[in-house]
Amino acid sequence: MMNHLAWWQTAVFYQIYPHSFADGNGDGVGDLVGIIQKLDYLQDLGIDAIWLSPHYPSPRFDMGYDIADYTAVDPIYGTLDEFKQLLDGLHTRGMKLILDLVLNHTSDQHAWFQESRSSRDNPKRDWYIWRDGKDGAPPNNWYSIFGGPSWTYDETTDQYYYHFFFKEQPDLNWRNPDVQAAMFAAVRFWLDLGVDGFRLDAIESLFEHPDLPDHSGRYTDLDMFRTFQRDPDAPSFADTSRYLFTYQMRQPGIHELFQEIRALVDEYDNRVLVGETDDVAYHGQHNDELHLVFNFSLMHRSPITPNGIRANQQERLAALPAGAWPCNTLGNHDSPRAYSRFGDGQNDEAIARLALALMLTLRGTPFLYNGEEIGMGNWLPSDIATFRDNVSLNAYQTMVRLGTPPEEALAKAAASGRDQCRTPMQWDNAANAGFSPENVTPWLPVNPNYAAGVNVADQLANPDSLLNFYRRLLALRRQTSALIAGEYVPLHEEAEEYVAFLRKTAVSTLLVILNYSPNPLTLAFDVAETGKVLFSSEGEREGETAVLATLPLAPFEILLTEPNQ
Ligand code: GLC
Repeated sequence: MMNHLAWWQTAVFYQIYPHSFADGNGDGVGDLVGIIQKLDYLQDLGIDAIWLSPHYPSPRFDMGYDIADYTAVDPIYGTLDEFKQLLDGLHTRGMKLILDLVLNHTSDQHAWFQESRSSRDNPKRDWYIWRDGKDGAPPNNWYSIFGGPSWTYDETTDQYYYHFFFKEQPDLNWRNPDVQAAMFAAVRFWLDLGVDGFRLDAIESLFEHPDLPDHSGRYTDLDMFRTFQRDPDAPSFADTSRYLFTYQMRQPGIHELFQEIRALVDEYDNRVLVGETDDVAYHGQHNDELHLVFNFSLMHRSPITPNGIRANQQERLAALPAGAWPCNTLGNHDSPRAYSRFGDGQNDEAIARLALALMLTLRGTPFLYNGEEIGMGNWLPSDIATFRDNVSLNAYQTMVRLGTPPEEALAKAAASGRDQCRTPMQWDNAANAGFSPENVTPWLPVNPNYAAGVNVADQLANPDSLLNFYRRLLALRRQTSALIAGEYVPLHEEAEEYVAFLRKTAVSTLLVILNYSPNPLTLAFDVAETGKVLFSSEGEREGETAVLATLPLAPFEILLTEPNQ
């Protein structure tokens, strides 16, 4: 049916955050055995591929995005053998697995950095970025995106090392061919095991300007901090990041490096690379870099409106280099949960259905985030002792230092931090939502709404649940080639209450209508006189023949119709 498409173009991806997915050994932390136990659940849900957030050994200063060994499994998650079982279990079920690949930096506990910092003439010295200070101060005025200077002084050798993120995450020197060779060997290690590809982390900061010039000084990291805290008087994110990080992001060298990574991956059959960037330029001018980049511009719209969706699609699809394939997402382990962010407090459930419908009906590969399918929302830590995200902890400390009363600082830090979207997956109605046994304290507090129906078991049993809505729509997408391969043709481009578009292949057409309003509507389409209703969020309409010139829609209805030609 869609033979000309690669698996990653037809697949729906599901991100698993391993710390929070399923605690197989009852220690309060998710693990590989836990994931293996849930494979039938995932297959039954109807997703095709998993992106696993880092599973490598790590001191977890940045929750695994600080890797201490690129070719092993962190003992807290299990063993390499269990990893192979997981991969095998997925492959036998016809599913795929991609891993997180953190190229920009390692952990400061990685043996490479330990060697590098040991002496100025260590063979690995130049694997990282070491410089002399200037008059007792760092080499230049660059900041870390997580706050504070991006240089940390190391007494052993009386020099500073560079880090775009935390000081526990020293940047690798990608201009050193030995770094590339070592990292490429790690990439091969996983590809040889049969892993289906990688999600590439933090790719825009891989290279720094070689002369390390000062930035213009127009903003400080406190301005950036206020921007992140959504302070209304703070400069925009675009401004702070453009001025502050002029020489630390998007430097020459990235495209050439991606061409090489792509060539490596292409030595293997059917692998995929997806990059943590919004920038379609990373597909490469000849489609010779990353297969997919995320449509973050859509995800960052808040709220999501019909006009916003159309504007996004128009820009995005036009900007894609010829032959490149779109990729949509609304949430991940770094951003507030879609359920809370897009919800209006009154129609959250209906809005969550629209969010999924949008992901599954737009042209491109959808990425879902674990827990979305049961409507998991943000859960804000209320006690500083339960904060696990060091970005939030830093934010709290900075605000208190700047004079914010501790209670207010706590609330703000929690609301802008990342713990809120990383709480344990809610499996059932038992204590700890079935994530961990009753006598264990999970690593982050469980959202108490598990007891009010926000859990897998209750929702599986309820035909009208969000989870069953996910299952139905995922199943439909899989068997509807227009939804996967069809061109996107916007209709009614002025409509403020709804979006309507066709997905059109040479042989089939689908009319998609998403009513974003709390009002019933009657719409008129002239694509055909009648259409067969393939899917409706108001289940009972399915199979009906609809008259397209007077098409009624319920509030927030999602309607997929096949026009009769
Ligand atoms: C990416 C990850 C994020 C991490 C950062 C540094 O943005 O998604 O979780 O903190 O990179 O590795």
